[in-house]
Amino acid sequence: MKKKISITINGKSVASEIEPRTTLADFLRDSQRLTGTKLGCEHGVCGACTVLINGTPGRSCITFAATLEGAEVQTIEGFEKDPVMEAVRHAFHTEHGLQCGFCTAGMLITARDIVRRFPSADEKTIRNELSGNLCRCTGYMGIVKAVQKVLHEVPAEDRVRNPVANKAAIQPFAFKPFKPKADSSANANSRPAFAKSAGESESANGWTRITDSFTVARSRAETWSLFSDFARMASCMPGAVLEKSDGKNLEGQVRVAFGPIRAGFRGKATVERNDEIYKGLIVGGGSDVASGSRAKGQVTYQLQSTDNDSKTIVNLTLEFQLQGALAQFSRAGLIKDFASRLIGAFAKNLADELEGRRNTRNESAELRVSSLVWSVLVSRMKTLWAKLTGAPTNDRGGS
Ligand code: FES
Ligand code: FES
Repeated sequence: MKKKISITINGKSVASEIEPRTTLADFLRDSQRLTGTKLGCEHGVCGACTVLINGTPGRSCITFAATLEGAEVQTIEGFEKDPVMEAVRHAFHTEHGLQCGFCTAGMLITARDIVRRFPSADEKTIRNELSGNLCRCTGYMGIVKAVQKVLHEVPAEDRVRNPVANKAAIQPFAFKPFKPKADSSANANSRPAFAKSAGESESANGWTRITDSFTVARSRAETWSLFSDFARMASCMPGAVLEKSDGKNLEGQVRVAFGPIRAGFRGKATVERNDEIYKGLIVGGGSDVASGSRAKGQVTYQLQSTDNDSKTIVNLTLEFQLQGALAQFSRAGLIKDFASRLIGAFAKNLADELEGRRNTRNESAELRVSSLVWSVLVSRMKTLWAKLTGAPTNDRGGS
């Protein structure tokens, strides 16, 4: 069934009927003849298809056009009267920021976004911010120099909007410090005061917070004993390997594969636990030398018994920040869906482990992000289809 949409593209209103599965990139290229937007990987990895969606760079290859009712989209063809883009284009020309030009439309849109958000970005910041756009022939020297040239030559007041003054000063959410205290009331089973409902997420200043919960058919004490055994718990998380643990300090790695990008995040974490209220906090970070990606964050978990303690609800809050090559997934918004899927896989493995059904033979030692992303895309299509047809959808995944 086709869906009617009205969006604004490069300042012009466009009304059209499209198939729900039509991506924004295909809609722009095939229906609107805006072929400046290029398709490289079509999996959200390379950044060639980057356009502005409501003023923010987004991947048009993994954005369904039908989800953009009322949105404003700006493609590379829509910057003719934009002085900042004019300066960025000129700098790419003089600094040899392109060869074949296939990546250039997406690269220009990202570069313009960088000089507007970071008034005095250093090279490291520029490279980090460009890490979601891949160029297969120029190398990045000329591209980085072009961004630096615009930063030096165009006064900040002429280009800056919503600036991020100093990346080092970016603060995460105001984490509430974890204060173990005795379970003094019948409230022990009460749900933690999450800002959003389970399954929801929010982002600010490069940080993403995801809250979720799932239920396992085991008592709270039994479930807590698994949460106290970090080796078993880590084995339930796809891609995670625990290498050292003294019960308080953990060391290990998480292996991730996203198409051609492979990363092995090696890191450390510390654990605080309160056995009385069945609550724990893991804070840590890690980096992958090969891709130059870094991650830091924390997981809060609390167990809540239900059904006369025959079942346990596990409440999770995950807060994290990604930098480097893999940060592109945060910017694409995919990371939220992906993390939610990951929690689904973790929950299924945990339930199987507790209920003696676990079979690790077919599990991958690597977290295959691409297959999870594919399942996210399928899920988004199912949701869209359900909205259009009123059909029920159930898309919670496992590993
Ligand atoms: Fe969209 Fe590669 S074509 S990210
Ligand atoms: Fe050829 Fe970037 S200029 S891929």
